[in-house]
Amino acid sequence: MDNVVSSKLISPNHIAIIMDGNGRWAEKQGKERIDGHYEGVVSVRSAIESCLDYGVKYLTIYAFSTENWGRPSDEVAGLMELFCKTISMEIPSLIDKKVCVKFIGDTMSLSDDVKESVKFCEDSTEGFETLTLCVALNYGARDEIINGVKQLFIKVANGEVDIENIDTKVIESELYTSAIPDPDLMIRTSGEQRISNFLLWQLAYSEFYFTDILWPDFRKEQFKEAIEEFSKRNRRYGKV
Ligand code: FPP
Repeated sequence: MDNVVSSKLISPNHIAIIMDGNGRWAEKQGKERIDGHYEGVVSVRSAIESCLDYGVKYLTIYAFSTENWGRPSDEVAGLMELFCKTISMEIPSLIDKKVCVKFIGDTMSLSDDVKESVKFCEDSTEGFETLTLCVALNYGARDEIINGVKQLFIKVANGEVDIENIDTKVIESELYTSAIPDPDLMIRTSGEQRISNFLLWQLAYSEFYFTDILWPDFRKEQFKEAIEEFSKRNRRYGKV
């Protein structure tokens, strides 16, 4: 949390966002749900620009949860197509802005075309340091913890890790986010006030910001309001 953009505004180092309300936005406009997701991409672009404006170093977005497979198959197929299209379309702009993209979640279980897009995007933006955009894709926090525990069991069995030495850092090193600091601020749009299996371990000390604004309407002004609210909080990080 080292970015002070003015005497009053304190920028979080890492913002995590649950981008909720795309479907309701579309319904309100008399459109298909997938149109809401496409409009949501415009808000993602806006959030990236805001992060660059405020000097935020990490942005994690919840693009597709392990629970989202339960949605109608045409919506799931539409989302996968949207991910592929958006990733390839945005790469030049991300390179231009020196944004490094990382994906967290069980991306290996996705279709070949999505896997190829993910790898191409990570490879093309590797090493950039202006902003790290972390996309949670086929992500579930409980699965992340279960996988981490399994890896640790293997290491203990192989004698690589001593059970007495297992602490916070050892657990963190087994999570998808091992190279990423914990979020300072978690934003959820659309009026829902739940974590929904998102970054359960990493959000232990984060500030939460809930807003009724639907994700496609969450643009620069709304982002600024979230940063202003964060700045006002009397943070006691690490003390509670
Ligand atoms: C939740 O709204 C939103 C999603 C499940 C998808 C979010 C994905 C994007 C905005 C695209 C991001 C793209 C890339 C490449 C990172 P909802 O459908 O649950 O809305 P509702 O609660 O109103 O139904």
